[in-house]
Amino acid sequence: VLIFIIVFHFLFVEYFAKDTALKLPISLHHWNMVTESSSPGASLNPAASPTETELRISEIREKLDQMIPPRPFTHVNSITSATHSTVTILNPRDTYCRGDPLDILLEARDHLGHRKEYGGDFLRARMSSPTLKAGASGKVMDFNNGTYLVSFTLFWEGQVSLSLLLIHPSEGVSALWRARNQGYDRVIFTGQFINGSTQVNTDCALILNSSTELCQYLDAQDQEAFYCMRPQHVPCAAIIQMRSKNKEVSYLSKQERTIFVRSNVGVEIMKNFNVISVSKCNKDPVPLKEKCKPRMTSTIPSGHVWKKIWHPGPCSLAPIKMNECLRGKSIYLLGDSTVRQWIEYFKSNINICKLQHQLAKDLDRKFNMQWKKKKTWLPLGWIISLFKGIEYIHFRPLSMDIFFQRALNTYKAVQPLLLRSPDITVIIKTENIRNMQNELERLSDIHSYSQYLAITDIFQDLNVSIIDAQDITITYTNNIHPLIM
Ligand SMILES: *[C@@H]1O[C@H](CO)[C@@H](O)[C@H](O)[C@H]1NC(C)=O
Ligand SMILES: *[C@@H]1O[C@H](CO)[C@@H](O)[C@H](O)[C@H]1NC(C)=O
Ligand SMILES: *[C@@H]1O[C@H](CO)[C@@H](O)[C@H](O)[C@H]1NC(C)=O
Ligand SMILES: *[C@@H]1O[C@H](CO)[C@@H](O)[C@H](O)[C@H]1NC(C)=O
Repeated sequence: VLIFIIVFHFLFVEYFAKDTALKLPISLHHWNMVTESSSPGASLNPAASPTETELRISEIREKLDQMIPPRPFTHVNSITSATHSTVTILNPRDTYCRGDPLDILLEARDHLGHRKEYGGDFLRARMSSPTLKAGASGKVMDFNNGTYLVSFTLFWEGQVSLSLLLIHPSEGVSALWRARNQGYDRVIFTGQFINGSTQVNTDCALILNSSTELCQYLDAQDQEAFYCMRPQHVPCAAIIQMRSKNKEVSYLSKQERTIFVRSNVGVEIMKNFNVISVSKCNKDPVPLKEKCKPRMTSTIPSGHVWKKIWHPGPCSLAPIKMNECLRGKSIYLLGDSTVRQWIEYFKSNINICKLQHQLAKDLDRKFNMQWKKKKTWLPLGWIISLFKGIEYIHFRPLSMDIFFQRALNTYKAVQPLLLRSPDITVIIKTENIRNMQNELERLSDIHSYSQYLAITDIFQDLNVSIIDAQDITITYTNNIHPLIM
């Protein structure tokens, strides 16, 4: 039995292009080693007429553009203000019973106290009882007229605090979306070539606007290409390494950048609210939910946490004996720092007898697990197969087009995989939320939210399970790595 867990800031398409007998390291069999091109302005997709992929990309982009329309920032006074926005509890009561809904109406207002007439503010609703180590997110419904309905379910009894954060005003969301789709140079890449006994470095990128001769590294199957300026008298194939670093570049105006100083990000709207008292009341016991299965329809919120334990919304998770569960299975974990957390968890909870080259094997229980870990930022998974030890991509700082393309190529690889081997379980984990401190143009959660929307759209007709890590991380702590509350 094979289980794939794909973590969606980083995708490794090659794994799926091959058969189920997977081996590390990834072979380069379909990597079209080097072709040369001297055409300037090499595009994302070298094909001349719009391909199926390009059409699908523009379709998804259009949906997102509609969701995030331009909201020009004219004056700081006219953007949404957490302090001036008003919140009312609908049908308030003195006591609430466990299981009751609790609805809140938010009227967004600007810094002068005027009602907003459009929606699009990026909000985060959460209820919690820190002493019970309990939490859940709230569902936010945007009426697109400056009014929002925030719905909570009071899952547990006790003292419950409510929080509604204005992560970014709609004007900030729109500015970030515009900036995300501008420029391909937030991360700059340097290719290192061997030239006899010396090394030569040149600029590399997914989109390289240059009139000099370029090396094109094309993945023939996925039609994803990567370019480097060709060093003089050095063959393209002499590339040995790729480095990446962040470039200090901004596509936001000076005025827009003020929206993203820490004091204006994630501002509490419900500062002056008392805790809510939730009692058990004389209600019938909570009906037993059916056992969780892959690909169950998800709910909003996707679940709640109580005494540190996750309780999914639509179903119940029976405690599992990890050893039993893993018997006879091969698990491939492709991903990020959360995957590293999972590996650490596995390592400390099961007796892994072999642990090397990112391969855990327990011969006794007959399972094995493989994973890829983070080292640096690279734009394409297949580049990774060339350069040893570099295995991880962040998509947030890269253009959405690159994310769309990678997600679609992953789709195209998973689809035949599931047809060929219906026993394989593919689990996609979307991104965790991050902290709200730094580099929001590059790293804001709005970027992972739009990626999340794209992923769910792309994979909706495939038999894959999606772990809504965004909701789960909000539920636990508003923290990127929520193992400990
Ligand atoms: C906003 O839209 C909701 C849902 O359509 C409606 O009930 C509400 O009255 C509207 N509010 C304003 C101020 O227009
Ligand atoms: C590419 O560079 C040329 C010359 O530097 C410039 O005129 C052109 O606008 C650039 N094209 C793009 C798409 O950036
Ligand atoms: C590579 O080496 C050759 C031969 O030594 C030399 O002519 C050429 O200039 C070198 N290329 C670069 C970019 O240094
Ligand atoms: C979806 O996958 C699960 C196993 O992960 C399998 O039990 C189920 O039959 C599949 N459903 C379809 C429609 O293929």
